[in-house]
Amino acid sequence: MPQSAQSSATSIADFAATSGGLTALPAWQQLEAHHAEISPRHLRDLFHEDPTRGSTFCHTGAGVTIDFSKHRITKRTLELLLALADARGLRAHMDAMFRGDKINTPENRAVLHTALRAAKGTRIMLDGVNVVEEVHVVLDRMASFADSIRCGGWKGHTGKRIRHVINIGIGGSDLGPAMAYDALRSYSSDEFDCRFVSNVDANDFVLATRGCDPAETLFIVSSKTFTTLETMRNAQTARAWSMAALGNDPKSVAKHFVAVSTNATEVAKFGIDTSNMFGFWDWVGGRYSMDSAIGLSTMIAVGPAAFAEMLEGFREMDQHFRTTPFANNLPVLMGLIGIWYANFFGCQTLAVLPYDQHLDRFSAYLQQLEMESNGKHTTLSGERVSWDTCPIVWGQPGTNGQHAFYQMLHQGTRLVPCDFIAFDHPVHDIANHHDLLIANVLAQAEALAFGKTLAEITAEGVPAWLAPHKTMEGNRPSSMIICDKLDPRALGRLIALYEHKAFTQGCIWGINSFDQWGVELGKVLAVRIIPELTAAAPATAHDSSTNNLINRYRAARGR
Ligand code: F6P
Repeated sequence: MPQSAQSSATSIADFAATSGGLTALPAWQQLEAHHAEISPRHLRDLFHEDPTRGSTFCHTGAGVTIDFSKHRITKRTLELLLALADARGLRAHMDAMFRGDKINTPENRAVLHTALRAAKGTRIMLDGVNVVEEVHVVLDRMASFADSIRCGGWKGHTGKRIRHVINIGIGGSDLGPAMAYDALRSYSSDEFDCRFVSNVDANDFVLATRGCDPAETLFIVSSKTFTTLETMRNAQTARAWSMAALGNDPKSVAKHFVAVSTNATEVAKFGIDTSNMFGFWDWVGGRYSMDSAIGLSTMIAVGPAAFAEMLEGFREMDQHFRTTPFANNLPVLMGLIGIWYANFFGCQTLAVLPYDQHLDRFSAYLQQLEMESNGKHTTLSGERVSWDTCPIVWGQPGTNGQHAFYQMLHQGTRLVPCDFIAFDHPVHDIANHHDLLIANVLAQAEALAFGKTLAEITAEGVPAWLAPHKTMEGNRPSSMIICDKLDPRALGRLIALYEHKAFTQGCIWGINSFDQWGVELGKVLAVRIIPELTAAAPATAHDSSTNNLINRYRAARGR
């Protein structure tokens, strides 16, 4: 597909200027007309017409294979979607991101999470500094710290070795490390465990520290800003918990607390020596930070060598995204097919269904990645979009989901595109569990696509009154994403796949995927309400509902 058809945006200024007007593009209008032709067609017919469809729509890159054939698309659909990407200047925008241009224009920041995994020796200049050098300085410091925890060289205040590492953080400073710890649990040292505290609900802290000896516990306070209310309160509680057990000696903090942040001033104010701080930069968005120092708990768990392998996996997918023609480019195709469903079929959600228990928290991680990135209603030029943006991302590992919500996927009234994620080789090869797992994921995709007709059900002798209940319409789309085996490299590849998919979609929708103003108002209002819960007089400054709820709570707490 040529990369220059229609009005191609080439610079960030062009990109912002053309971020509106999506639905007026010829490619968009052609897609609308094409959707009218495609939507009545059944996957059964598409497969019947093209017996090679299963391989034609299957692509491999960076060690990941994706079978897109069970999507309600034809070659023409992809041609039009690729023309849309071209018209939205995806190639130029992608180059601008990798180059370090300040594409996060509302915050005037570069978006350089790809520099976090650039190989030593690479040059990516930002404001006169080679950021890759800075990245590797931090990675080397993380590695020596992680090694000292892993081998027991780092001792707690009383001389005991560390047995529990507790990451305190929220959002991007929690979801990535927590997901990665589960994902790579089978590669982790048994000498200690990692735990995660995120919620300001004290129950989270209590449960995470249950059974931990403070003398053997290290807290990693992870916060890009080091001002986030939840994290700061949890860190204060942790400091009190730790010091109370360690003779209230302020010197104990240096042995039991380290920080990961961009804000050295606040770290020092909290009482953590900045020599125990691992930095990152404002050009790393929180939800794109799990491969920065925010991944310190991951590195401690799996070791620096495995962490480096994970970074290589990220880098391989970066390279694939950057260099592969869009027609075979996995993140681009995933992003465009997602647009096809969200904007033309009107699908409101995307189910992410990993067939590996280690990926229990993968969809929670993707919720922030995709929904905080692309859940926006304003274009880069400041207009309200007249098209839908990010769908709701949800899901949980198969086969558990099959016994919970798959009924709705198969026979509900809403169309839910699914991302199945499967691995050729199991992490634990016990009996024939893996064959059973794989048979299930393949069967689900097949059942969703092809269903079972009323005629087939009736031919089995099912009585007429029951047959409609057993009929499966099919024509329900899915991607089958396959990697070799869930290991650090595969995890890096998978995460980068979704990062670049989100980038692709943000570019098409003409929004800024790298800010999150939508979370700010709630934070401000919470700060206003906090003193009102304990003030001498009842609340009167809000709407009647909020006043009433505050005063009801005060009464319940005897205030
Ligand atoms: O509230 C949203 C958010 O700003 C996320 O974008 C971020 O990942 C999270 O809060 C935590 O922020 P920080 O790392 O600064 O504590």
